[in-house]
Amino acid sequence: MKYVRLSQTEDKMPTLGLGTWQAPPHVIEETVYQALELGYRHIDTAFNYNNEEAIGQAIKKWINDGKGTRKDLFITTKLPHVGNRPSDVSKFLTLQLSRLQLDYVDLYLIHVPFGFSCDPDTLTPVVDKKTGEYDLDLETNHIATWKKLEEFQQQRLVRNLGLSNFNEAQISKIIEAATFKPQVLQVELHAYFQQIELRKFCAENQIVVTAYAPLGSPGAKTHFVTKYNYSPDAFPDLLGLDEVKTIADKYGKTTAQVLLHFLVQDNVVVIPKSTSANRLKENMDIYDFELSTSEIDRLRKLDKGEEGRIFNFLFWKGVEKHPEYPFKLQVNDIIN
Ligand SMILES: NC(=O)c1ccc[n+]([C@@H]2O[C@H](COP(=O)([O-])OP(=O)(O)OC[C@H]3O[C@@H](n4cnc5c(N)ncnc54)[C@H](OP(=O)(O)O)[C@@H]3O)[C@@H](O)[C@H]2O)c1
Repeated sequence: MKYVRLSQTEDKMPTLGLGTWQAPPHVIEETVYQALELGYRHIDTAFNYNNEEAIGQAIKKWINDGKGTRKDLFITTKLPHVGNRPSDVSKFLTLQLSRLQLDYVDLYLIHVPFGFSCDPDTLTPVVDKKTGEYDLDLETNHIATWKKLEEFQQQRLVRNLGLSNFNEAQISKIIEAATFKPQVLQVELHAYFQQIELRKFCAENQIVVTAYAPLGSPGAKTHFVTKYNYSPDAFPDLLGLDEVKTIADKYGKTTAQVLLHFLVQDNVVVIPKSTSANRLKENMDIYDFELSTSEIDRLRKLDKGEEGRIFNFLFWKGVEKHPEYPFKLQVNDIIN
């Protein structure tokens, strides 16, 4: 396992973590235990994935079985869109820690820069029954929420702090106002969407970048196409790309391993999700080869910039009207 150091705390963050989005509780409990047995030490979850409790069970069992200690692990979770306000941070963090059965998390991220009104009974967004539009919380105040997170970092309920899906202007404002600066940014990042500018900005500000959807999120396709009526053409097949296959064949690796290695060799943290025992193993085995400069150049050329983005969050109807919606919209997005 390789690590990156986080600013301010000097904590070590493993460059490979296990993603857990779309992994239901009855499956993820076994998967997390298996992953820990294989040597994964970093788990990425979120309030919105509805699996924190099962992940907590797996961690507890692994520690109780004498396989390792809490200190060996790096656990990330996220403040949800429905809790994106200073007055709700304590409520959500307390609930998440109790679901995870942990005294602290290693990293807490604000999941998205926008906020929705929260149904207090279900802790889910309030949606207009007639229009299907999400009820936006127009009072979202990043600095006030960040200041609350700083308090919990001081109290050691959270060791490190970060952001997810924020754009450069939004991050800059937080950096300016922060006492404890953002240490990690988690964003969509893969061969078709390499986030070159944002990564440069993060490097200049000692922010570690975590790549979500590092394989192009093949599972998201089924999810978005069936649940949200997206066109299947909107999803890339990075694992099937000839350019990546040629490189993979040369090293006796799979295309997934090349796509992950391409990011970690540049100190980007990757969090591929898998619930298959074989693929968990495969996704770990990414450190024992080096790509040549010309191979790296070839992979860099796959970048499509903004056109490579999969996750624009427009499946939350009306989200683009929020003043903190972070992405520039393209004409196709608006038609969607
Ligand atoms: N902050 C955010 O807003 C945000 C958004 C999206 C995701 N995330 C985080 O990032 C993690 C990763 O993103 P993601 O899950 O969307 O996409 P991903 O990791 O790029 O892709 C996961 C999909 O690829 C399959 N897969 C995994 N390893 C494979 C391999 N070696 N060969 C072939 N297929 C493989 C998985 O299926 P099997 O399970 O069947 O192997 C799953 O369907 C998430 O799980 C979540 O923790 C964060």
